[in-house]
Amino acid sequence: MKTQVAIIGAGPAGLLLGQLLHKQGIDNVILERVSSDYVLSRIRAGVLEQGFADLMREAGVSKRMDQEGEVHDGFEMVLNDRRIRIDLKGLTGGDTVIVYGQTELTRDLMAARVATQQTSHYEVDNVRPHNMLEENPYVTYEKDGREYKLECDYIAGCDGFHGVSRKSIPEDCIKSYERVYPGGWLGVLSDTPPVNPELVYVRHERGFALCSLRSQVRSRYYIQVGQDEKVEDWSDERFWQELKRRLPKDLADRLVTGPSIEKSIAPMRSFVVEPMQYGRLFLLGDAAHIVPPTGAKGLNTAASDVFTLYNILTKVFGEGRTELIEKYSEICLRRVWNGERFSWWMSNMMHKFEDTSEFNEKMYASEIEYYLSSDVGKRVIAEQYVGLPYDDIES
Ligand code: APR
Ligand code: PHB
Repeated sequence: MKTQVAIIGAGPAGLLLGQLLHKQGIDNVILERVSSDYVLSRIRAGVLEQGFADLMREAGVSKRMDQEGEVHDGFEMVLNDRRIRIDLKGLTGGDTVIVYGQTELTRDLMAARVATQQTSHYEVDNVRPHNMLEENPYVTYEKDGREYKLECDYIAGCDGFHGVSRKSIPEDCIKSYERVYPGGWLGVLSDTPPVNPELVYVRHERGFALCSLRSQVRSRYYIQVGQDEKVEDWSDERFWQELKRRLPKDLADRLVTGPSIEKSIAPMRSFVVEPMQYGRLFLLGDAAHIVPPTGAKGLNTAASDVFTLYNILTKVFGEGRTELIEKYSEICLRRVWNGERFSWWMSNMMHKFEDTSEFNEKMYASEIEYYLSSDVGKRVIAEQYVGLPYDDIES
């Protein structure tokens, strides 16, 4: 078997890259470890930057996102029970975000791939990239007990944080940077009307809370929990009670509770690997970097890697511009580090971590008060929340 680009992983990064490459006539095959149903069962974030939405449009997969996704002009931050609105549209001169669940977006990308008859192999084992430093790389994998070889020109490692791509790079050729935060987010999805039409990020003595949504009839709420907490110890009732304690009174009073349809704990980690490539293997999305969820940057940063690789490969295959290959990592990392910094900063400002000194705690409280007390400070937050522009690959 032979293709131009072998894509490892059918998360949003792999699927979006595959669709964009296909539009340019670049043949690609996706290899995914689990079933498509399993991929769709994972509940993840759902705030899309304009750049991400535009990429979905360019890929021709935006119909449902544009119909059902909600455009949000702003969101709220709560400090000491005071609700402060970040007017994204007003502060950025017109930019907004779209609230559209990652599950739905993944479903749309999978459907588009089937409709365009591109090859995807789900439930494959032992995927391994080979010959990455040579001109003829290939990927081996097993399916139903048989071994296969997929020859290709380039390999896109879109296989998430625990995938095989990053691990295939010799350790002395990459360096990683990491902060693991003490604790995580306990999330509940419920078919209840959201407490507020816009997202609400809450800083509270008892820990952070977030009121988010998937639609006006489906809510997503999170509370910060300690690192030893187990999801089994959190009944729905206990979750709702704790959430209410962290919300300002007007929101707590009108919170509609109901049975959870999903409940899980997401860890909080900042992680970047440098460089994001090894010969003809490229790392994209969670395979190369992780952010804590506070700034809604995980999916969006994955999308900017996709944008960069897609544009480079279009010129490589279309115009023979192979010199662009070695620029991939450098271009991606500029934007990646900014997303990392914003997510780390938002996390520090809004959470109470047990490893933060009392002094730093005071500093963070003062810093976020300062930002939210002026339009300049709010603009700094707004500009990053809607997403910085993608870097031009010729720059
Ligand atoms: N072989 C093949 N596929 C693999 C392997 C492997 N060895 N290991 C992991 N995968 C698959 C996973 O099953 C998953 O479907 O790779 C996919 C990676 O998808 P995501 O984890 O969603 O990563 P990515 O596409 O980079 O997502 C970017 O969306 O899901 C969020 O948290 C994620 O915010 C991040 C963003
Ligand atoms: C979500 O809706 O799941 C969500 C929204 C915003 C975030 C993180 C998660 O910052």
